[in-house]
Amino acid sequence: MSEKRPENMERITTPELAHAFIDEKLEELRAQIGRGKVLLALSGGVDSSVVAALLVKAVGKQLVCVHVNHGLLRKGEPEQVIEVFRNQMDANLIYVDAVDRFLDKLAGVADPETKRKIIGAEFIRVFEEEARKQDGIGFLAQGTIYPDIIESGPVKAHHNVGGLPEDMNFELVEPLKFLFKDEVRVVGKALGLPDNMVYRQPFPGPGLGVRCLGAITRDRLEAVRESDAILREEFAKNGLEGKVWQYFTIVPDFKSTGVKDGLRSFDWPVIIRAVNTRDAMTATVEDIPFELLKHITARITSEVPGVNRVLYDLTPKPTGTIEWE
Ligand code: XMP
Repeated sequence: MSEKRPENMERITTPELAHAFIDEKLEELRAQIGRGKVLLALSGGVDSSVVAALLVKAVGKQLVCVHVNHGLLRKGEPEQVIEVFRNQMDANLIYVDAVDRFLDKLAGVADPETKRKIIGAEFIRVFEEEARKQDGIGFLAQGTIYPDIIESGPVKAHHNVGGLPEDMNFELVEPLKFLFKDEVRVVGKALGLPDNMVYRQPFPGPGLGVRCLGAITRDRLEAVRESDAILREEFAKNGLEGKVWQYFTIVPDFKSTGVKDGLRSFDWPVIIRAVNTRDAMTATVEDIPFELLKHITARITSEVPGVNRVLYDLTPKPTGTIEWE
């Protein structure tokens, strides 16, 4: 099949155009898959969620979704995947709790690229194991989108399932491969996915693993997850959710002294990052109201165990990258 978006393909900008796209894809998917079984790694990100919703509509229980919880997801994400796909859409969803497995593999590993490799390789292994438990899978669905095909920039989605062994030679199903991200969101909305899934900010494949700096420990990972949840909640409440391209927290692997409840503390800092960009190659720092920063600081230092300071990263890209690792 050609890897070029058809020249006459209209840009999907409205619900009507999205529904027309969906109708056309449902027919194509049914023709391609017939009575076959399709496997999909469902991360809960926009692309894989839209693929899942399309396939549930097209082939129902012939789709087998696998959601791997590697312990590096944001607060509430695995629960939302289960709620939306299993409970609301009645999809065939396998939830794999691989938290201990990933964290054990990552224990003591401080180098960022080694961490990334371990997470990617382990993901393929877990997914492969689940795939082998299934009988008669003929197809592998992927949330490939057009920028994945035409660009090789740093935002390129890391669809880890590309590394399955050769004996698992499934036919690919890639219904979004000619769509740009904004079009995927319009289609997701038309498919009835919740807004916080459809308009979700970019989230790296290695997840919170590259925001818990150095060798990951469970307590610092929880500090990243909890502080990130507070930041997201406050951004949503204060109208920054759709306005800022990417925002998250980081917990470094050093401590500083402080005072908590009248006692000297020796705890971690939390760093806030909030940036705007067009293509992730360069980025500017969002001008967050100082009062809001102070409020977020107060919440994080009082609600997140083991944290006594909050810092705001003012560095644009360049010279800083968006992530810290
Ligand atoms: P940097 O830190 O390079 O990030 O300025 C640019 C964009 O890429 C995302 N990013 C990743 N995405 N796997 C991913 O899927 C990765 O290993 C990875 N590293 C960075 C980052 O979140 C930002 O949006």
